[in-house]
Amino acid sequence: MPPESAISLRPLKPDDAASLARMHALSFAQERPWSAEEFARLLAMPTCRGLLLEEDGRLAGFILCQVADREGEILTLAVVPESRRRGHASRLLATAMADMVMSGVQRVILEVAVNNKPARALYESHGFRPAGRRPNYYLTQSGERVDALIMVHISGAGCGCDD
Ligand SMILES: CC(C)(COP(=O)(O)OP(=O)(O)OC[C@H]1O[C@@H](n2cnc3c(N)ncnc32)[C@H](O)[C@@H]1OP(=O)(O)O)[C@@H](O)C(=O)NCCC(=O)NCCS
Repeated sequence: MPPESAISLRPLKPDDAASLARMHALSFAQERPWSAEEFARLLAMPTCRGLLLEEDGRLAGFILCQVADREGEILTLAVVPESRRRGHASRLLATAMADMVMSGVQRVILEVAVNNKPARALYESHGFRPAGRRPNYYLTQSGERVDALIMVHISGAGCGCDD
């Protein structure tokens, strides 16, 4: 049997900005990559928090969230292509959701491109439900406009954290 890989999760730190920008650029084929400066600005905000996942010491993915009072938002979530379909996004999302619920968050929202089937399936499996649409919200690198689906998770409506 192959040896099991070592997976670790830790909170994001301000000096993770460059690593997050690298992973974001590798992960999103369509979306404009977010720069290290953008990540640094977000990480400096007291309302932002997130998690970094390493597999065998290599950066594999991250989640970045924002919390204001009882409302949370998933700003972005990415797993690098070679580390996908191993449950990493599910781990990141479940841990971030549990952390936000522990902080008193009752409603979590996010936006996802309507044509992003893997992400929509992930969020649905964690209890997020469609709640609206923003037409032409994303501009892809090829210049195409794509609608954003707004998804909402209400605490107590099944976050997928324990199941
Ligand atoms: C979406 C993404 C984060 C999933 O990461 P991942 O680590 O491969 O996901 P997991 O292995 O944890 O999968 C969890 C669930 O998500 C869904 N899912 C993930 N990848 C999928 C795919 N390619 N096709 C269909 N469903 C998929 C499934 O429901 C899966 O559960 P299952 O394995 O029991 O079927 C990853 O593909 C990614 O980084 N994509 C680019 C960035 C992005 O779209 N981010 C989200 C929008 S903000």
